[in-house]
Amino acid sequence: MRSLRSPLLALLVLAACGGGSDGSGPTVPPPSLTPTLRSLAEDKLLIGTAVAIAPLREDAAYRARIAEQFNAIVAENAMKFGPLQPSRGTFFWDDADEIVAFGQEHGMTIRGHTLLWHNQSGWVFERNGDLQPDVTAAELPAILENHVTTVVSRYRGKIAQWDVVNEAIADGLGAGLSVEGSLRNAAWAKYYPAGKYQWIADAFRYAHAADPDAKLFYNDYGIEGSSSQKAAYALALVQKLLADGVPVHGVGLQMHLSPDQYGDWPLNDDFPGLLRKFTDLGLEVHVTELDVRLQLPATAAKLEKQKEIYQGLLAASLANPKVTAFLTWGLDDGHSWIDGTYAGYGAALPFDASYAPKPAFLGMQAALQAAPQ
Ligand code: XIL
Repeated sequence: MRSLRSPLLALLVLAACGGGSDGSGPTVPPPSLTPTLRSLAEDKLLIGTAVAIAPLREDAAYRARIAEQFNAIVAENAMKFGPLQPSRGTFFWDDADEIVAFGQEHGMTIRGHTLLWHNQSGWVFERNGDLQPDVTAAELPAILENHVTTVVSRYRGKIAQWDVVNEAIADGLGAGLSVEGSLRNAAWAKYYPAGKYQWIADAFRYAHAADPDAKLFYNDYGIEGSSSQKAAYALALVQKLLADGVPVHGVGLQMHLSPDQYGDWPLNDDFPGLLRKFTDLGLEVHVTELDVRLQLPATAAKLEKQKEIYQGLLAASLANPKVTAFLTWGLDDGHSWIDGTYAGYGAALPFDASYAPKPAFLGMQAALQAAPQ
């Protein structure tokens, strides 16, 4: 199946072969799911999803559904520090290259996620964000420069936007802190000799030097509502970067949402106003990792609520011309980080585990259809 390069051909062959989601082989997407999101989104914004390397390699139906519906992709894990540089100075490109090749083959824009983060940082940091025993703080600037420069240079001209820094702001803060004071005290921030803010500025500068045409993003979660204190700190951070002449071009809103836990947030917290706070600075905004987890079992009422959230967020994004991309964190409920991370929750994505559309998909279609050209 790996040699099936045309999505249409793959669909036809799979339709003839059968298969199921129970491990008996690749699943078969319903052959016609039109109008596709990507056809509706054309000229409006990038519509995308995160891809996992295993199903991308093994499951032609997964590939076909992604190629059919989306014009943008991001690697769910393959371009993080640890996967890309598994040991000091040694890079592993196979998975990331394959994702880039898939995107290019299908005329997609490719987002890069993420150059630097306190998690999945391989041999540099422990899981708790402390330095590994054989790494010194004095080495961090050179490690940072080498990683950012090597990765961005390799994909120069191929990856259009990078999440340069992910999740740098601490959770649960009160008001009144400085930018430095708002930053998470872990990993790069904790040990970078020039300070908690400087590693961020350096990372953006090295990324820009390696690919001056790539759009560079700061990406975080919990910054999606107007009244969010964390959003205020994200705003202050990007304002400081801009004031310091650091090449930052956009902000990524992760959007891992949960109606059972947080109701309609951020739709009930002036989401358009939140978008404007960033776009009024001249920055682009991307919705980078949308999923809407449901406490299981997912009833019809919960799936309808989920549809409203997907539709409402996409409609608000389409209404602001500086919101230029809208990506879900995975294609389908069979390939989602939610189930392994939030006990009792799941069913977070617009397709079910057989790649059949859920109400959330119809909500996305409807938002795109309603948007002006
Ligand atoms: C998650 C992946 O989905 C998981 O497979 C992995 O085990 C951990 O990371 N915010 C981010 C993403 O920026 O990189 C995370 O992805 C989800 C939360």
